[in-house]
Amino acid sequence: MKLKGEVQLPGFLLALRFLALVLWSFPGARALNNGLAMTPTMGWLHWERFMCNVDCQEEPDSCISEKLFMQMAELMESDGWKDVGYEYLCIDDCWMAPKRDSEGRLQADPKRFPSGIRRLADYVHSKGLKLGIYADVGNKTCAGFPGSFGHYDIDAKTFADWGVDLLKFDGCYCDSVEHLEKGYKRMSLALNRTGRSIVYSCEWPLYMWPFRKPNYTEIRQYCNHWRNFEDVYDSWQSVKRILAWTSSNQKRIVDVAGPGGWNDPDMLVIGNFGLSWDQQVTQMALWAIMAAPLLMSNDLREISPQAKALLQDKDVIAINQDPLGKQGYRLRKEDNIEVWERPLSDLAWAVAMVNLQEIGGPRFHTISIASLGQGLACIPDCMITQLLPEKRKLGFYQWTSDLKTKINPTGTVLLRLAAT
Ligand code: GLA
Repeated sequence: MKLKGEVQLPGFLLALRFLALVLWSFPGARALNNGLAMTPTMGWLHWERFMCNVDCQEEPDSCISEKLFMQMAELMESDGWKDVGYEYLCIDDCWMAPKRDSEGRLQADPKRFPSGIRRLADYVHSKGLKLGIYADVGNKTCAGFPGSFGHYDIDAKTFADWGVDLLKFDGCYCDSVEHLEKGYKRMSLALNRTGRSIVYSCEWPLYMWPFRKPNYTEIRQYCNHWRNFEDVYDSWQSVKRILAWTSSNQKRIVDVAGPGGWNDPDMLVIGNFGLSWDQQVTQMALWAIMAAPLLMSNDLREISPQAKALLQDKDVIAINQDPLGKQGYRLRKEDNIEVWERPLSDLAWAVAMVNLQEIGGPRFHTISIASLGQGLACIPDCMITQLLPEKRKLGFYQWTSDLKTKINPTGTVLLRLAAT
C-alpha cells in the first residue's frame, strides 16, 4: 500500500489507459428504441413473496388486491425506497378477472381491484412512482388467467389507456416456438404503437431454451429486459443456481446487455425468510455486478432494518446503475471462491469475491491487483473501498500489490476500485 502523491504517468501507462477507455466505451448490440431502461429497472414485483393468493376473505393482508399495491406504494414513497431509485411498483400474475369484458378487453378482478387498474395507476403516479402489470404471450397466464394470444393490440392499448408504465410478458401456454417469437415481437410493436412509454419485460429466452438457442441480438431489439432462467425462490439453493447458470452462459449473454436492454436473473428476495445475512449480501452484490433489474419481492410493511439498509445501499445501487451499462462476469473460480468483476464508468471497477464453501468459517483470499480488469483495473494505482458486507476505505493500492480479504461462508466481499 502507498499514500497518494502526485504521479507522472509514463507514456505506456497513458496508452494503456486510453486503450481501456476505448475498449469499454464500445456500445453493445442495438437496443429496443423506446428510450427506456437506460439503467436496469428498479422497483418491486409481487410474485415471489405473494404469489397467486386470491383469498382476500381469509388473508386480506396478503392477497393480490389493490389494497396490497396501495400499501406498498405508500411505503415506497415514505420509507426511502423511491429516493434511492426503486420506482416501478409491479403487479404479477393473478390480478385479472377470469374472463375478458364484453369488448374483449382484459379486466381486473372486480372483488380484489374494485377501483380498477386505471385508478390504481393514478394513485401510484400520485406517489411519484410508476405502475407495472403482467400478461402472457400465450393462451393463458401461467396461473390460468386469460392470455394475450390473438389480443396483442387491444391489450397493449388497454394497458396504455390505464396509464401502465411496464409490462411483464410471460410465456406460458404458447402452442409453438414460432408463436412465442412472433408474439413477443408483436407485443413489443403494439406497445410502441400506443405512444406511451412502457418498459417491456420479457421471458422470451427462458421459454426458447428448451427448443433452440435464443438469438439475444434480436431479443434485445424488442425487449428492455429478459428472463433467461427459472424462477427465483426464497432460498440459497435458488440464488446459487441462478449465479451458476449466469456464469456458465456468460459468453453468450454478457456482451448483449447494455443501456436499454438487460439480462434479468429475476427478483431480489432479500428481506424474506430463506437467505441468511451473508446470502442476502451475496444476492445484492452479484445483482449489482450482473447489471440486473433490481425488482424486490418482499413485504415492505415488515422488513428488518438490516435488509432495508442493504437494499437501500446507495454505493451498491450506484454500481448496479452505473451509466456505462456493462454487465460484469465471473473472472475465475478457485478452490470454491469465485471472483467476479464489472467495468464501471470513469475507469473504475467493481469486484466481488464469493465464498461458496459451505463448511468451515470465514476464509482468507488474496488477489493480485494486476489480475483484475484484464490488467487494467489499477494502473498505476487505485483507491479501493470495500462496500459489502460493510463499507470500509481500504486505501491506495499499487498495480503490483496484493489484497487480502476475509469472506464468510456463502457471503461476498464487494469492492470498488477507483482510478486515481
Ligand atoms: C412464471 C414466471 C414467474 C411468475 C409466474 C406467475 O413462472 O416466470 O416470474 O410471473 O409465472 O404465474
